[in-house]
Amino acid sequence: MTVAVYPGSFDPIHNGHLDVIARASEIFDRVVVGVLDNALKSYLFSATERANLVRQSLPPGGVVEVAHFSGLAVSFAVAQQATVIIRGLRAVSDLDSEFQMALMNRRLEPRVHTVFLTTGFANVYMSSSLIKDVCAHGGGITGLVSPPVEAALRHRLAPPAPDIPELFEEAR
Ligand code: PNS
Repeated sequence: MTVAVYPGSFDPIHNGHLDVIARASEIFDRVVVGVLDNALKSYLFSATERANLVRQSLPPGGVVEVAHFSGLAVSFAVAQQATVIIRGLRAVSDLDSEFQMALMNRRLEPRVHTVFLTTGFANVYMSSSLIKDVCAHGGGITGLVSPPVEAALRHRLAPPAPDIPELFEEAR
């Protein structure tokens, strides 16, 4: 039985992540999506919200579980009895930092191997930051994220309606 963890910020999860999860679940017996809770980082969604959005975006059944963690990804892997860390690659530009992380993780915990999975071609330009930026400026994000994530993003990022009309009038 080979267990893999897929750590990340998932702020929020998008279709590129879901593609990687689908591929991983075809390879490994158990896949645990690990939502990082890093107190030094500010997120749009809390760790609980991000983990719930992952759960709501996954197809029913399957071998995928969701948990949140703080601390090192390798410690999370060991706690989950995983021997594999999955990371998704969109383009060659991702490889530089991913390679660094993989080697550092191997140094920290030689029993845990990093496996890179390439996302589908349709997802290469996707990133959570870009999707949040587009949504915050009123752009369409349908097809980039699952319907629950789209609803949550719209709820949190919808531009506020101008409720004090005189504030927005040009001076005469
Ligand atoms: O989705 P992200 O933000 O690209 O994921 C980065 C993540 C969470 C995989 C990475 O920051 C991480 O593993 N953080 C946990 C702390 C840790 O293990 N740091 C050492 C990495 S070599």
